[in-house]
Amino acid sequence: MCGIFAYTGKKQAGVTLLDGLTSLEYRGYDSAGIFLPERGGIRAVGAVGNLKKKIPTDFEGHSGIAHLRWATHGEPTEDNAHPHRDCTSDVWVVHNGIIENWKELKRDLESRGHVFLSETDTEVMAHLVEQELSDGKDFESAARAALGRIRGTYGMAIQSRAEPDVIVGARMGAPVVLGLGDGENFIASDPSPILKHTRTVLFLEDGEMAVIRPNSYKIFKLGGDTVERAAQEVDWSPEEAQKGGYEHFMLKEIMEGPEVIKNTLRGRLMFEEGMAKLGGLESVKDELAKIERIIIVGCGTAYYAGLVGEYMLEEHAGIPVEVELGSEFRYRKPVLNQKTMLLAISQSGETADTLEAIREGKRKGAITVGIVNTVGSTIARETDAGVYNHAGPEIGVASTKALVSQITALALLTLFLGRQRKMSDSDAEEIISQLSLLPEKVQKILDNKAAIEAMAAKYSDSRDFLYIGRKYNYPIAFEGALKLKEISYIHAEGCGAGEMKHGPLAMIDEKFPTMAIAPSDTVYEKLASNIQEIRARRGPVVAVATEGNDDILSYTKDVIYVPETIEMLQPILSVVPLQLFAYYLAHAKGFNVDRPRNLAKSVTVE
Ligand code: F6R
Repeated sequence: MCGIFAYTGKKQAGVTLLDGLTSLEYRGYDSAGIFLPERGGIRAVGAVGNLKKKIPTDFEGHSGIAHLRWATHGEPTEDNAHPHRDCTSDVWVVHNGIIENWKELKRDLESRGHVFLSETDTEVMAHLVEQELSDGKDFESAARAALGRIRGTYGMAIQSRAEPDVIVGARMGAPVVLGLGDGENFIASDPSPILKHTRTVLFLEDGEMAVIRPNSYKIFKLGGDTVERAAQEVDWSPEEAQKGGYEHFMLKEIMEGPEVIKNTLRGRLMFEEGMAKLGGLESVKDELAKIERIIIVGCGTAYYAGLVGEYMLEEHAGIPVEVELGSEFRYRKPVLNQKTMLLAISQSGETADTLEAIREGKRKGAITVGIVNTVGSTIARETDAGVYNHAGPEIGVASTKALVSQITALALLTLFLGRQRKMSDSDAEEIISQLSLLPEKVQKILDNKAAIEAMAAKYSDSRDFLYIGRKYNYPIAFEGALKLKEISYIHAEGCGAGEMKHGPLAMIDEKFPTMAIAPSDTVYEKLASNIQEIRARRGPVVAVATEGNDDILSYTKDVIYVPETIEMLQPILSVVPLQLFAYYLAHAKGFNVDRPRNLAKSVTVE
């Protein structure tokens, strides 16, 4: 999730663009860059502050494009920072998204003599426009023709020195909004950098491009037809705009679930071969084919993702798996060797305990692999190989979209390692087809959020909550409890449903509710008996159950229905309602959901 911002008008462009980038900084902070036609491209690794130091404040340009990068293709270096340029340094592009056919386009452009300076997918766009310009088109037509050749997702702004007042924007799958001012116009990823200047905005839709000049704007379909759409006035504060109109980052991030799954899967499902394409594992694939054991390490939510991975990898890849808390692993004397893969799961890539576990594994000769969201983070750099989540920055302290992405990535890893072993074609085919259906299924749960909000309101006075689940949903019981306790400060415990009779059942009475994760899987009957035991002690039960299951209504009327999928992917569909439930419950209690007390987003100390 990068951020783009473009300006054409009468103000000092450098200052305006830098100021706008600061409002967009929540979208990425790996690198920042700016293009001013009279001055050229200026880029810096790290946050906007580093870029600011490089731009003179007295500089008088009146248009430009700017970018904040959250790295996907290529490390967070200055060369890979946007804007990217063509061979003549006349055409510059900023881009949020991924151009899927960039490799073939790059080969074609190189064969025509274009020279590339970065490892990014974005640079092809600048060269495509250059190519079209050299065929005699004007800038607008050249940009349109170039957009017609790329496939993938983009929110983009393009500028050419030949017509410095003109900026072309385009949208396909990544948000783009125009800001319409008096003698000035803007293009941005969201309204937050625009609101200081104008409250009149116009959101582009997929497959549309816009051409802005200081005193005019036009919108077209990529095919060429003009689009007539009325602008709208927004009364959001810049902070509300960063949250996409949601009250909290946590809710916004939960709502991003379908997009996050698509981004984690993008380009990685090989339908024909029944395989996962994981470029980050290429360098160690021969060693991975020989590993005899996997140890997964993580903390908190990432640890629970690891537990789901244990079930997946053992069942479908046939490899023995253990899951360890980073904080425990580093103080044991783990027995590891070259046939062990040590897999770290971490959103931030900076969690101290997980990092130390990886260092210990390396010392002992294990192959270290990361499932990490933050490109270029310490864990990403120190592991031998890895799979990036591509979930975009997670701002809410409570991890939500990262978990959804981590489980998705674990499913890809299961496919990869399973196919190196004995996973059948039909098993692989089913996993792939069910993975590709997940985004729409998660969307269905999100569309039902009002019912989950009502359920949370009903239970908002509870002092305690028990979460139970079995098999693949056993870790989700712990994750559901963690989400509730960390943002609502309610005492919540996760428990394997089969363990109830071994102790926890003693706590149950009419004031102690249970969240039962009860999809229609191979352990549903057993879970239903556990619910019955709780109901017999007058314990209230909320159940997460599969659509069409009426049987559950004989135990409780408080049911949150979720779509069906294969057992190994069900945790993704079970956890989303629990995230929403925790969010709404904490919200009903009036707590600051994004910044729970006593907690930090990234735990870089022991
Ligand atoms: C819970 C939460 C934490 C993190 C944990 C690991 O909502 O956010 O439990 O999951 O601190 O963090 P990462 O994934 O950054 O290593």
